[in-house]
Amino acid sequence: GATDALAGERIVITAGGTHEPIDPVRYIGNRSSGKMGVALAREARAMGAHVTLVLGPATEPAPAGVDVVPVETAAQMLEATQAAFSRATMLICAAAVADYRPAKPANRKLKKGIDDLESIQLEQTDDILARLSHDRGDRIVIGFAAETGNPIDYAQQKLVRKGCDAIVANDVSRSDSGFGSDTNKAWWITAHATEELPLLSKSELARTLLIRAHDLRS
Ligand code: PMT
Repeated sequence: GATDALAGERIVITAGGTHEPIDPVRYIGNRSSGKMGVALAREARAMGAHVTLVLGPATEPAPAGVDVVPVETAAQMLEATQAAFSRATMLICAAAVADYRPAKPANRKLKKGIDDLESIQLEQTDDILARLSHDRGDRIVIGFAAETGNPIDYAQQKLVRKGCDAIVANDVSRSDSGFGSDTNKAWWITAHATEELPLLSKSELARTLLIRAHDLRS
């Protein structure tokens, strides 16, 4: 049920994937459905927070009652997240952001026999989580880590490298966890503790994570 456990929090959530254009009709993307980030937005709102959802390409519709900023690329996601972050008390990065994008997207459709379609030159995107963790001041910043083996080890390294307050490591090698599923198997990892959580619906996991994130302040 609705509570006001998060009254006073202004939470920015990134969700969904990104599309990085190759030409006007093709892109590089990923399998994020948006379910995890949308569940966080819906539950945070129900718990009394003000929510801004920066939503990349996703199949899951945005929930009612939250401010939605639709974006397509990693660069747009960075800009929108940065703008909302300035007035926020908390940031949760649940989006699957492209790490690389085509360096020179074509402004016309590439054609077989005319263009070189064998290779695409890529360049790195900016890391939204790392950038905003660095500038967080007294805001709480939470990241996710999509891992296939050894979720805890890799996620602990990501926590240090990205400089956030906690990482939610989720196992994306299981069919009942990670991309597209309605449930998720995760670990809550801070500098002080690693907690294994049971397999939960994404809504239950969202509520569990929001309480833990809020409690980091006390
Ligand atoms: O959307 P669903 O289908 O429900 O699936 C949920 C999910 C599996 C996408 C989600 O639970 C999840 O794990 N999201 C993070 C996926 C990811 O890209 O993880 P990563 O290990 O590559 O990135 C680590 C963290 O850095 C993430 O918080 C990510 O949002 C952030 N990041 C990464 C790259 C980048 N350029 N900018 C970022 O902010």
